[in-house]
Amino acid sequence: MLEEAVSLKRRLDGVVPPELLEKVPTSFEVIGSRAGAVAIIEIPPELEPYKYAIAKAVAEMNKHVRAVLRKVGGRSGEYRLYSYETLIEGPTEVLHKEHGYYIKVDPTKVFFSSRDQTDRLDVARRVGEGERVLYLFAGVGPYAVAMAKFAKPRAIVAVELNPWGFKYMVENFRLNKIKNAVAVHGDVAVVAPLFKRRYDRVLLTLPLGAYRYLPLAFECLESGGVVHFYHLGREEDPFSEAAEIVKNHCPECRIMERRVVRDYAPGVYKVRLDVYKP
Ligand SMILES: C[S@@+](CC[C@H](N)C(=O)[O-])C[C@H]1O[C@@H](n2cnc3c(N)ncnc32)[C@H](O)[C@@H]1O
Repeated sequence: MLEEAVSLKRRLDGVVPPELLEKVPTSFEVIGSRAGAVAIIEIPPELEPYKYAIAKAVAEMNKHVRAVLRKVGGRSGEYRLYSYETLIEGPTEVLHKEHGYYIKVDPTKVFFSSRDQTDRLDVARRVGEGERVLYLFAGVGPYAVAMAKFAKPRAIVAVELNPWGFKYMVENFRLNKIKNAVAVHGDVAVVAPLFKRRYDRVLLTLPLGAYRYLPLAFECLESGGVVHFYHLGREEDPFSEAAEIVKNHCPECRIMERRVVRDYAPGVYKVRLDVYKP
């Protein structure tokens, strides 16, 4: 859930001085469900004295929110995690609901973004019956759950390095009664070479750095297969760098689809290229 927070400004009218009201964020992310949710918000330094009032207003806007976290800096490290400042303390392990399935996750321990849910559905709808799918950089496994729910793949192998991601992924397959997906705990660079030429589809869901694994992804593909390659692109020309990388690694490949997944940073998009290998 991404809350449109026009009313956040309105709620803070009279609390935050008028000249700072325009700095109040226009959106925040809510991960969870009726059973409990965590709200994640970016608050600029100018609003430091009002951070707790902002957090209280956020919690009042969604009665399921138990904890409010403030992002500190960008995602970092191998596990691609934000650092958070806790503004309202509460449980951060939640059961997130999207498209009718559940994802158990603690966003302080493992990557998860509710903002990728449209992309998950879009990828799932492209999976053909009986396909074998290799899902690299799988986190808590949300793309695998979407594919298993909305398509009929024969098998999904999902690889994740973060032990918390692996733990939640196993649980998410169980929660959603998914029988045709296997979670693997390990480094993609070590695990993926074991699967050469065995897959019809490979997902490379690591926008910052997936290009380093593109040759490996192509090696894992059967001819006639597709790689979903994620990358970052500047707003004014989102796809050309990603397309150039694909061309360099696989001149015979054809780009079937180019999509902007979502905003990543000011002026930068997360993009996806679907690449067909003949
Ligand atoms: C951008 S997140 C995507 C997670 C998941 N696919 C999703 O959409 O929620 C990338 C994930 O790759 C994992 N990761 C990073 N390097 C890895 C590696 N060498 N092998 C396996 N997983 C890795 C991180 O821990 C992180 O969970």
